[in-house]
Amino acid sequence: MDQSRRELLVTGTLVAAAAAVSAAQPAHAQGQVMTSAANRPPPTDAPYQGGTNVGKIDIVNTLELAEEARKILPEGGFGYISSGAGSEWTMRENSAAFERVQIEPQAATGISQIDLSVEILGSRLSMPIMMAPCGSHGLAHISKEIGTAQAVAAAGTLMVTSTQANESMEAIAAANPGPKWFQLYFPSDRGYARELILRAKAAGYTAILPTVDNLVGFPRETNIRNDFRVPVSLGKGNMPRGMTDTTAALAIMRHRKVDLSWDDFAWIKEETGLPVVVKGVMSPKTALQVVQHGLDGVYVSNHGGRAFDGVPATFTALPRIADAVEGRVPIILDGGVRRGTDVFKALAMGANAVAIGRPALYGLALGGWEGALSVFEHMRDILAISMTLSGTPNVRSITREYLYRANALT
Ligand code: GLV
Repeated sequence: MDQSRRELLVTGTLVAAAAAVSAAQPAHAQGQVMTSAANRPPPTDAPYQGGTNVGKIDIVNTLELAEEARKILPEGGFGYISSGAGSEWTMRENSAAFERVQIEPQAATGISQIDLSVEILGSRLSMPIMMAPCGSHGLAHISKEIGTAQAVAAAGTLMVTSTQANESMEAIAAANPGPKWFQLYFPSDRGYARELILRAKAAGYTAILPTVDNLVGFPRETNIRNDFRVPVSLGKGNMPRGMTDTTAALAIMRHRKVDLSWDDFAWIKEETGLPVVVKGVMSPKTALQVVQHGLDGVYVSNHGGRAFDGVPATFTALPRIADAVEGRVPIILDGGVRRGTDVFKALAMGANAVAIGRPALYGLALGGWEGALSVFEHMRDILAISMTLSGTPNVRSITREYLYRANALT
């Protein structure tokens, strides 16, 4: 390993030291509990194979894709993708929240052409629907993130690549000439953090998305029941470079910085000169801090209900966040977006774009890159129908005026 690159050495030495301390003196006896990533289940060596089919898929609605994917994926892998944290209340609520708000269409608006394109942080997207950062696409399909990247490029939208991708961020970038951002699980090891963000910049990613919502692992009961951990055999494309000891490299990767501060995000900007979009914003206060610290985007997310059960749906959190942001930076939302009408509602409530995770992974599982592309096209088409029927010719024109307000007099 090139030790001079690392400012903080989190190799076997530190891991062993941490283990020795906890063995000598249980932390909880001191009133402290473990807040390191070490409470996250470790990966396994178990063999694994996702879907193999490549081809367009028929979609009635994206919710039904889950059942189709369940039939072809290993139980543990399907469980990992489909489940959430704790009782999964937040995961269910993400979708349910969209159903409690209705669209109020306007009539005779004389619209015949719909423009779905949006520009976000300098990138033009064909639709306001991007690919959310998800780890280990190999759980869904043998093409892993390469298949997803090809689908997203074909759809003309934006790919967010996860630190936890099976493929390397460079290989994913090579498969996707279109716009792409890099999601960062901020490592404790500052040298490794720098390596990741500079690799992302060199590979053509145009924004960095530090994640603030999944710093310690909230138990996911389905994975516990299935005794499932993500198999290392699928690959870890973004491990620290130049290390021959894979166990030590994985340990560095697992050790996330829990005590993140606004200085850490400023540091990403200083190091890369790239925009920083904070992912996992769930309160107006945090959103305002993003703006006040000169950062570049608010990504409203509760990690698809996978990170902290009991927090509200992202769509529920959105209006107060949008009011705090006042259009000063773009807002992206993920969580429970399953239908074109959900996209419409999120845009109307103040998001500039949404991101989808599970639906695209199910499409990938069922049809490789063409299956994932089918999902983007399906959601795009229902959004276009919703815009035509509501009388909004472009994304900018979708405002809260198009959401039904009970008891409104005008
Ligand atoms: C990883 O980010 C996951 O949610 O599993």
